[in-house]
Amino acid sequence: MTQNLADASRPAPVPAAEPIAASAGASRGWWRDAVIYQVYPRSFADANGDGMGDLPGVRARLPYLRDLGVDAVWLSPFYASPQADAGYDVADYRAVDPMFGTLMDADGLIRDAHALGLRIIVDLVPNHSSDQHEWFQRALREGPSSPLRERYHFRPGQGENGELPPNNWESIFGGPAWTRTTDPDGTPGDWYLHLFAPEQPDFNWENRAVADEFRSILRFWLDMGVDGFRIDVAHGMVKAPGLPDLVTGGDQLKLLGNDVMPFFDQDGVHAIYREWRRILDEYPGDRIGVAEAWTPTVQRTANYVRPDELHQAFNFQYLGTSWDSAALREVIDLSLDSMRPVGAPTTWVLSNHDVTRHATRFANEPGLGTQIRTAGDRELGLRRARAASLLMLALPGSAYIYQGEELGLPDVTDLPDEVRQDPSYFRAAGQDGFRDGCRVPIPWSGTEAPYGFGPTPGGPSWLPQPAEWAQLSVEAQTGDPTSTLELYRSALTVRRAQPALGAGTEVTWLEAPEGVLAFRRDSAEGSFVCTANTTGEPVRIPSPGRLLLASAEAGREDGEILLAADSTAWWAV
Ligand code: NOJ
Repeated sequence: MTQNLADASRPAPVPAAEPIAASAGASRGWWRDAVIYQVYPRSFADANGDGMGDLPGVRARLPYLRDLGVDAVWLSPFYASPQADAGYDVADYRAVDPMFGTLMDADGLIRDAHALGLRIIVDLVPNHSSDQHEWFQRALREGPSSPLRERYHFRPGQGENGELPPNNWESIFGGPAWTRTTDPDGTPGDWYLHLFAPEQPDFNWENRAVADEFRSILRFWLDMGVDGFRIDVAHGMVKAPGLPDLVTGGDQLKLLGNDVMPFFDQDGVHAIYREWRRILDEYPGDRIGVAEAWTPTVQRTANYVRPDELHQAFNFQYLGTSWDSAALREVIDLSLDSMRPVGAPTTWVLSNHDVTRHATRFANEPGLGTQIRTAGDRELGLRRARAASLLMLALPGSAYIYQGEELGLPDVTDLPDEVRQDPSYFRAAGQDGFRDGCRVPIPWSGTEAPYGFGPTPGGPSWLPQPAEWAQLSVEAQTGDPTSTLELYRSALTVRRAQPALGAGTEVTWLEAPEGVLAFRRDSAEGSFVCTANTTGEPVRIPSPGRLLLASAEAGREDGEILLAADSTAWWAV
């Protein structure tokens, strides 16, 4: 099933793409201050016009990303998959799904990216496979005595006839985390564990074949020339011995991220990352691992980025913080304080393919969480989103941008139910799982859908785009100094040029009126100040220095500065 580069049109063997020299970044590692752009391949650019984004589409748009000014591109999964969870259900880890292209396309994409000075990070999904993975299919076919069952978590059920699940764990997508199998003779058999959809059986990481296979998969992609891996559910691979019941009085999902669970953030996962770090370090060019780890505290997140483990971990505590100066200051301090002892860069992220876009989160009242189905006050949301993005890009460390946020895209909150594809929406009976709203294909150009996402005006797109998106396209925003796209382009240019921006571990908080965050960052070559007014009113402050950039025009009054409502400004000092 595995595709081979040699199978494709080019004669074999193909040498791996040249790595970008390690020195082409900050001296202590390029990832310490990298701006990493997340491409969600099915929604980025559709080269063949079938309505689904693909790797040739991404490849053709790489110059856009270079010009935007990002350092690296993280690609969500493009592997062979039945797409039960948009590719996070992998059937073959070494093959590209035909829907996205071929291994040759992946090879070409990596080469082109490197030639443009962009690094490529691919997604790795080690907690679970697809139920169509060859191992799982054989485990089912061969019945209870199959040794392949040891590679997953198969267990007899409880109750007189095994009719009850082996324990009380619930799936993150809703419903029990166990599904009962049918034996080859047609009788009800054992149950298997799936922390997500039933089509995503969890691997048993105690099994040596599983660990061996993933070491080999890492090498496969490292040999292809990728610069790193974003590790899906990095906190989930090791389960508490004996798979004990969760002792809970209530909704298990509410405990996620707040409590240590028998299936999440178990200390055993760290041995896996120590091994993987050794593999990454064997390769030239500073290859990295990024943990998607939901942990109860930022301090526990720091465990994933100890010096002999991974390089970065997503800062979900920051993503979950509302547009409020006190809350933001607290999470910024906590994040920097937690990462300092392990020497890892802090990361900052506001949006991704799993949460309501921040332009829509900030358009709604705070405290609604990250799955929101109401559009809220769009104008307010965009104003705050622009301010929040400038604030994020001023903080010390590495920042993540999710495709389309540079266009100020809101979530599409009114998708008709019949077009939705997020499995969590269906498992939660439409009460949760609104992730399709942030996955709508992005607009590039033109006045007719799919707005340049696909090659033909009037052509298909796998989710419908709103009519207003014609005004939000890359083409419509390019050259307009007031557009969000030009704000991001300027911010990334200034970020590269300002010595006090980028990598670091400190901010110095400055005195500021209530509702305003003001901090300084210093370097040998000069200082930088960021001011963020999180209030809905203009606020007057003494001038911090020379204005570099602002998310909304700052005024002057009696020699002082008038910060616009919900705005961030950058100053050279
Ligand atoms: C996290 C991914 O970001 C999400 O999209 C996916 O559904 C789950 N992990 C399961 O793989």
